Amino acid sequence: MKNLADHDSFVDGVPHGTFAQMRAQAPLHWTPDFGADRGFWSLTRYADIMAAQKDPQTFSSAQGIRIEDQSRAEYLARRTFQETDPPEHSTTRRVVNPAFAKPVMAGFEPMIRDLARDIVSQALDHAEFDGVEHIAKRLPMLMLGRILGVPDADLDWLVERGDALIGNTDPEFTTTVIDKVNTDDYAMMPFRSPAGVELYDYAEQILNGTREVDDAGILARVLRAEGGAIQGQEFKNFFCLLVAAGNDTTRYSIAMALWLLSQQKELLEQLQSGAVWDTCADEFIRLASPTLHFRRTATRDVEMHGETIKAGDKVLMWFVSGSRDEAVFDAPDTANLARSPNRHLAFGQGGPHVCLGMWLAKLELKVVLQELVPRITALEATSAPTWTRSNFICGVKSLTLRPTLK
Ligand code: HEM
Repeated sequence: MKNLADHDSFVDGVPHGTFAQMRAQAPLHWTPDFGADRGFWSLTRYADIMAAQKDPQTFSSAQGIRIEDQSRAEYLARRTFQETDPPEHSTTRRVVNPAFAKPVMAGFEPMIRDLARDIVSQALDHAEFDGVEHIAKRLPMLMLGRILGVPDADLDWLVERGDALIGNTDPEFTTTVIDKVNTDDYAMMPFRSPAGVELYDYAEQILNGTREVDDAGILARVLRAEGGAIQGQEFKNFFCLLVAAGNDTTRYSIAMALWLLSQQKELLEQLQSGAVWDTCADEFIRLASPTLHFRRTATRDVEMHGETIKAGDKVLMWFVSGSRDEAVFDAPDTANLARSPNRHLAFGQGGPHVCLGMWLAKLELKVVLQELVPRITALEATSAPTWTRSNFICGVKSLTLRPTLK
């Protein structure tokens, strides 16, 4: 079994064999202290993750949601509504929910399609291209700008900072690799990252009116929301959350789809048949499951599988494992683009924190594929994919593709 605390266990992709073994033999698995951090419990079975999700009073988000320990001061400085429990969480969630609702996102479809068509055309101008740089990264980045209401000119910069936050364990994304150098200077910043300082500055300028944002975007909307406007430090953290969450997760889902299309020609044919457009996005996202886990903290002793989770213990819900649990999914490691129902957990389903951006992410993935697949007869991978070094967000980081055009 690979050590889940070690980011190097993920450099060749998710260790699915380890998760299968845990589901079978150690469904409540203890990883001892590592580095300066306390050990943690891992939930890997679908049913156990769902049970924890449904009980936020016992499995609380209000002491941090990342694997690393946080002091109370760090927690308070960096927290967003994602690091709170109901009923506190519900207040902010009610403010932000409408902007991300399925019908609102459906209204964005023409815009997403125009962007996707351009992105695909530009990529296909090259005989060979990096599918992540040229396709998977571009669409979520441009849509993030439109959702937030910030100018396109700022997006490369914002996304680079977002990558440094989420990729804080990968030397390709940051020089301040969290488990390799001392990051105490950035303890009060999102993800203990210097990029957090720069994003805070950007958010501060929005707050003090020196940087304009589009009035229709989510940032302007939450600033003026009646009965629960997000302001001050909370706004800065919310901004960082969106830049981080709304960006690379969708990128890695699209990248996984491209990788699978390059490996299994029949998937391309199924998409071209038009029969699986309603179901394919969920299946690609189930298999990608880019957000591997989120953490909760037990607020009381809990007996499970013959062991005791003690009050105060950290508990990781490995969505990536629950979404491949053979007790729930037939042939869980196989891509079945027609899978329905598809009750995967990649968006943290089952609890109050279910992903806000899931309708957007699914739509982006579907539309970009709809723009790509009619134009090609084959997609060949001419390099092996490289993977992020992270036990939190794992996905295809680069992948050279050679398309055969129709
Ligand atoms: C395939 C793409 C995506 C995946 C796999 C994903 C995954 C997740 C997961 C697992 C959670 C639950 C966190 C928890 O339980 O604590 C979550 C929450 C969240 N996601 Fe996503 N996400 C994706 C795309 C997006 C996008 C595009 C946005 C915004 C534009 C977004 C914004 C958020 C926010 C704000 C939350 C916190 C919600 C809350 O605490 O109530 N996500 N996401």
